[in-house]
Amino acid sequence: MKRIAVVTTGGDAPGMNAAIRGIVRIACSKKFQVLGFRRGWEGVIANTFTPLTPRSVGGILQQGGTILHTSRCPEFKRREGIKKAAETLASNHVDGLVIIGGNGSFKGALELGAYTDALIVGIPASIDNDVFGTEETIGFDTAANTAVAEIDKIRDTAVSHERVFMIEVMGRERGFLALEIGLAVGAEIILVPEVKYRNEDLFETIRENRAKGKKSGLIVAAEGVGNTRLLAEQIQRNTKAEVRLSIIGYAQRGGNPTARSRLLASLFANKAVQLLSEKEGNKVVGLQDGKIVDVELQKSCKTEKALDPNLLRLANVLAT
Ligand code: F6P
Repeated sequence: MKRIAVVTTGGDAPGMNAAIRGIVRIACSKKFQVLGFRRGWEGVIANTFTPLTPRSVGGILQQGGTILHTSRCPEFKRREGIKKAAETLASNHVDGLVIIGGNGSFKGALELGAYTDALIVGIPASIDNDVFGTEETIGFDTAANTAVAEIDKIRDTAVSHERVFMIEVMGRERGFLALEIGLAVGAEIILVPEVKYRNEDLFETIRENRAKGKKSGLIVAAEGVGNTRLLAEQIQRNTKAEVRLSIIGYAQRGGNPTARSRLLASLFANKAVQLLSEKEGNKVVGLQDGKIVDVELQKSCKTEKALDPNLLRLANVLAT
């Protein structure tokens, strides 16, 4: 292993910079050269990169976003794009490629593997926490904390006005973020795409809460459950509650990473470089039972991570 390339792909996540720093410093300590492709897969296709050194990644550990920039790259979904990316890797004599990104990025990486000799290792970084093979992705803890800080403030006004707030959080089609946030803010109701609900049951819970003296309330809904504005209107119409909608949005993707996201990034970087120096590829690193592990890239891409139903049950009990 002589030359490693690193790329951040898909939606950014707080802690990506910490992972870049980790890769560069650990790889350089082993005398590898490191290149950073710019703007995600776009940069790999266009052969746009920057050499990275321990000094060039100074001061980024605590910064949100990614110094390499990122993008959604439709071209990488087509065979031509993937082949061009493989050519870039070959022409730059890249022996190992570290992809810091989420599910979608790893699926692309799996296809790229068929066209390149470079060893590929994925580092899960996504606020959605929807990558199979790891209990936590880089950025998830930060995004959850960002939303919790906002929702705690919303709770104040909800109580003062005796209103119900519907709060939409991110997570794409999955409910990991909503569940984590809902538990942390003590939401009366948590809506996730994995569990179907009947509107009438929702109305009934709110009516019951009001009857037992809970005049205000928080509903934390994953964006994947659908039209939260419409749902908020329906709740207002069918209960006596005054309902407001608040969408937390892209703030969840930014900000300084928490200590936990930074640490996870550094540990994942260490494992990724270790795998490459042992000439192991087609892997995704992860956290399982407190240990840093690796799983096959193919398995990570093809397996759906399960939401823990016990956590939802706990949330319901805690909300009584
Ligand atoms: O995957 C991260 C995420 O923020 C999702 O939670 C959200 O659905 C999506 O990205 C938004 O994507 P875009 O940045 O392309 O608008």
